[in-house]
Amino acid sequence: MENLSIRQARDNDIEEIKGIVKAAFDRPGKNEYFNEWEFVDKVRNDSGFIPELCLIATVGKEIIGYILLSKAFIGKNGGLSLGPLAVKPSYQRKGIGKRLINYGMKKAKEKRFEWIVLTGGDYYTQFGFESASKYGVVLSDNHLENPYLKIKFLNSNREVFGKMRFCDSFYDGNGELL
Ligand SMILES: CC(C)(COP(=O)(O)OP(=O)(O)OC[C@H]1O[C@@H](n2cnc3c(N)ncnc32)[C@H](O)[C@@H]1OP(=O)(O)O)[C@@H](O)C(=O)NCCC(=O)NCCS
Repeated sequence: MENLSIRQARDNDIEEIKGIVKAAFDRPGKNEYFNEWEFVDKVRNDSGFIPELCLIATVGKEIIGYILLSKAFIGKNGGLSLGPLAVKPSYQRKGIGKRLINYGMKKAKEKRFEWIVLTGGDYYTQFGFESASKYGVVLSDNHLENPYLKIKFLNSNREVFGKMRFCDSFYDGNGELL
């Protein structure tokens, strides 16, 4: 898509972003305690929020995609987590998710982050995300072998392992991952 731009999201974009995130993620039977569209707002007040890594894809004035990279830890080692990522349904499968991820990874590298973790499916392997358990990175003591937990190293350092933690907005009041 030639007329696509990617830029940092601003406060006055939030309602439109929530609309596309809802359209991308809402489905019957969804977890009633967590949804990605309310999270878009909530995470902006989190100490793990990085405004330059909260990005949107636009065509003209229309927002058609959203990606968030926020601070995460593996043990005491700081890095990033990726998600949510959402593309407006009518624009899916046109390479927009791919553009957002590649752009987000480039910005993360420029900021000298060394790794990105996420929970997600096979879509992410094309970008070099690998099973985190291969490196001894786990989500919690209860989820030692989470097949969806993936990691991408942004440079040659692979020396991270242990329990990972997303920023606070990803957990409920009892410390459980939402
Ligand atoms: C998943 C999502 C972000 C992908 O964005 P997209 O712009 O539609 O995907 P792209 O066009 O960049 O996909 C690039 C390639 O990835 C592959 N791909 C796309 N969606 C995929 C999926 N869900 N699973 C596996 N592979 C996928 C395809 O090979 C595609 O290329 P091709 O169709 O030209 O062969 C988007 O479909 C979306 O918002 N889905 C709903 C919300 C969601 O599930 N978010 C991710 C949560 S982990």
